[in-house]
Amino acid sequence: MKILVTGGTNGMGKGVAKVLASIDNQGHEIIILCRSKELGEATIEELEKDTMNNKISIVLCDLTKLSEVKKAIIEIQRKHTFLDAVFINAGLGYAAKRIETEDGMDSHFQVNYLSQFMLTLNILDLLEKSEVGGRIIFNTTEEGEIFWDDMQMENKWGYEEGIHQGMVAKRMFLRKLHNLYKDKENKVSFIGFQISKIVWTNQINIIPAYMRIMATVMKFFGKFITMEEAGKIMAPLFNEAQEETKKKSGKFITWKNNEFIDIEEDPSVLDEKLQDKLWNISLDLCGDDRTKEISKTLLLSV
Ligand SMILES: NC(=O)c1ccc[n+]([C@@H]2O[C@H](COP(=O)([O-])OP(=O)(O)OC[C@H]3O[C@@H](n4cnc5c(N)ncnc54)[C@H](OP(=O)(O)O)[C@@H]3O)[C@@H](O)[C@H]2O)c1
Repeated sequence: MKILVTGGTNGMGKGVAKVLASIDNQGHEIIILCRSKELGEATIEELEKDTMNNKISIVLCDLTKLSEVKKAIIEIQRKHTFLDAVFINAGLGYAAKRIETEDGMDSHFQVNYLSQFMLTLNILDLLEKSEVGGRIIFNTTEEGEIFWDDMQMENKWGYEEGIHQGMVAKRMFLRKLHNLYKDKENKVSFIGFQISKIVWTNQINIIPAYMRIMATVMKFFGKFITMEEAGKIMAPLFNEAQEETKKKSGKFITWKNNEFIDIEEDPSVLDEKLQDKLWNISLDLCGDDRTKEISKTLLLSV
């Protein structure tokens, strides 16, 4: 299978990329979307060495810049005629203060959600061409709310609130996509996944010292899993048969007691009017004619 992983140079994305590269006789092709050429190339070298899979490549894209998202979309479309799976994972974690992107957005909102909204809409056609059934797995969690009157968090900012807003936005987005695709016989499936244990990722290196000490104590008590363990849990979501994937489409799930189970979704996420509202705001924020055209075609097709 051909699998695109956003944020595959560290943490959960790297764990998923590593596990997928190593299984099924090293048969999967992995494309890592990353912001640093050096780190991307070092990741290829490391994963090739660890997994013996030589079908790993990178696409450069800093998700704080819509101009780079557009370039990455062109590169993916130029190099690939199809995709089988995508992991929408890249995300900003801890931050000491609000950082506004050059596109004038809150960086958590843009990196964790908006740029990947635009990326997703522009690669749906490649997933539709998958012969094994295209699927997108969104890395998300239960918390959060959309700050409709202050989505860019100019008036009231907190890094956790910013992360959580992105999580809800992803859950609303995948529901809407599922609703659009269910009448197309679920040609592409959309699944929200929450890891049920905390994963020891690069986040630990960037949080303040007192939080790192707390994390280290928690690690001692077994509260963390490694990125490879997270990758092993998630791998079936990417390479399972289409029939299984279809059953999960539109759902928000987690992994508990050795099985994938549903998480009850928040009514505000299921509200189709709110989903539409977010979709339209997101399209406006992308300000991209091609993305608007894709949306128009999708909405007309149902
Ligand atoms: N860790 C957990 O327990 C946990 C639990 C639930 C959900 N999550 C979510 O999982 C996702 C991954 O987090 P993680 O814990 O694995 O953190 P991580 O180790 O910091 O990985 C984040 C990934 O996103 C990439 N990224 C960040 N900003 C970017 C940008 N501007 N452009 C392109 N890529 C960018 C990073 O690139 P670099 O390698 O260049 O930094 C890295 O590859 C996040 O959305 C997080 O909220 C994590």
